[in-house]
Amino acid sequence: MEQQHEVDRGTPPLTQGDHQGDPVDGDAVRRPAGGRESSRASRGWWDRNADEYQNDHGDFLGDARFVWGPEGLDESTACLLGPAEQLHGLDVLEVGAGAAQCSRWLAARGARPVALDLSHRQLQHALRIGDGQGGGLAFPLVEADARALPFADGSFDLACSAYGAIPFVADPERVFAEVARVLRPGGRWVFSLTHPLRWALADEPGTEGLTVLASYFDRTPYVEQDAAGRTVYVEHHRTLGDRVRELVGAGFRLDDVVEPEWPEWNQQVWGGWSPLRGRLIPGTAIFVCTRA
Ligand SMILES: C[S@@+](CC[C@H](N)C(=O)[O-])C[C@H]1O[C@@H](n2cnc3c(N)ncnc32)[C@H](O)[C@@H]1O
Repeated sequence: MEQQHEVDRGTPPLTQGDHQGDPVDGDAVRRPAGGRESSRASRGWWDRNADEYQNDHGDFLGDARFVWGPEGLDESTACLLGPAEQLHGLDVLEVGAGAAQCSRWLAARGARPVALDLSHRQLQHALRIGDGQGGGLAFPLVEADARALPFADGSFDLACSAYGAIPFVADPERVFAEVARVLRPGGRWVFSLTHPLRWALADEPGTEGLTVLASYFDRTPYVEQDAAGRTVYVEHHRTLGDRVRELVGAGFRLDDVVEPEWPEWNQQVWGGWSPLRGRLIPGTAIFVCTRA
């Protein structure tokens, strides 16, 4: 991740100039961005910024932990995927896996994860970390777009994503349909992303981040473009209600929406996520669904 970007797990769209770093020789705007355009931009951005992302956040994420977001909610205690002892033997798809920290945690519990990401460089970090104990990787890495999953119907018992792919795609209903397709009936789909409420606020960790700057209802994508107008980074916003409708429309039952509270032990600032804001407003939303 480039130093001038503090967006890491997603920067809520703000008015131009409020973003914590402008693209080199370009600008940040709110304008439409299509499906292929968004994927192309994400691939490039994450390839260029994977080294910095892993350098800055690798310790917090842990090589083999499953952390749902900057609050530090850990799957070991949250059990949103179900009881850990029941993960053994399950086929699990991790969408937008980055360096596959969550898949490593799953593999250590006897699950059979497949870690999928659009970014070649992120997956190279997965190879670098290996099994976290000096060995190779005991599960596959797949370089692909979550909008077109390269798996047969009904391949997985469980699918999960910690801030992977969903905030970056123009057509999340397409990703949800793909996840539903590759899940077996009754399979769980659990994913986290920036809490939609944050999109209305300044993306700042301090008190300035408590001010409403934009409409929560404005779904216009946040786009960073270079001097030639080419899209180099995109995030897509949906309201909470939009997410519910997308999931139900793709054939999921929504079982829970978890809004992790900021814990006392966590003193880190991660982009716009901070103890100050975290104690007052939700920063992450985790959707727990079941394929009908
Ligand atoms: C904020 S990172 C999260 C990575 C990892 N889950 C973690 O917690 O560190 C977002 C990841 O989503 C991936 N991504 C973005 N768009 C994607 C897409 N359309 N398909 C698959 N992966 C995508 C990026 O390459 C990046 O690795």
